[in-house]
Amino acid sequence: MSRVRKVFLCVLCVNLRILCVEHFNTMAETLLIPQTTHRQEIYDSLLPQLDALTAGEPDLIANLANITAALKEAFGFFWVGFYLKKEEQLVLGPFQGPIACTRIAFDKGVCGASYSRRETLLVPDVEQFPGHIACSSLSRSEVVVPVFDKNGEVAMVLDVDSDQLDDFSEVDVRELQKVAALITRLL
Ligand code: SME
Repeated sequence: MSRVRKVFLCVLCVNLRILCVEHFNTMAETLLIPQTTHRQEIYDSLLPQLDALTAGEPDLIANLANITAALKEAFGFFWVGFYLKKEEQLVLGPFQGPIACTRIAFDKGVCGASYSRRETLLVPDVEQFPGHIACSSLSRSEVVVPVFDKNGEVAMVLDVDSDQLDDFSEVDVRELQKVAALITRLL
């Protein structure tokens, strides 16, 4: 099936879900995830579904929880979750994966660096990142994306970890930034 046709079908499915939510007050219980290893295709399918999943739900934690579950289900990432800015530090929020460090100072780890620099950090080998915090010794590479509030302040970071070296690319950076932008609209 051509990519255009797949995207069309996906948008159709998402719109049907929105109709379902709006008119029957029910939420679809499953994600539609293309059977491919091409992450770009998976992101193309997932992003509109995340939009539909979070539209109309005002509770931030509920939305962040579903976003982590969706990313985990779609990609099988080792760890995916949020650290929220609270009381002048980053505090663990909704996540999927092994238990993790609960608090990170703004000047510590990849998460703290991403928060302070206000930029996405792609770390192909965590052992090469000075100050990396090893919540799990199995984590080998990661990408951390800041999520801005409507005033341009960093409200949280989205942290995605892999147990494989060099597992992330510019595709993940670009698409996870789109996830972050979607969250900004929810804040
Ligand atoms: N590795 C992160 C800490 C968070 S965990 O990996 C879940 C860091 O260096 O900031």
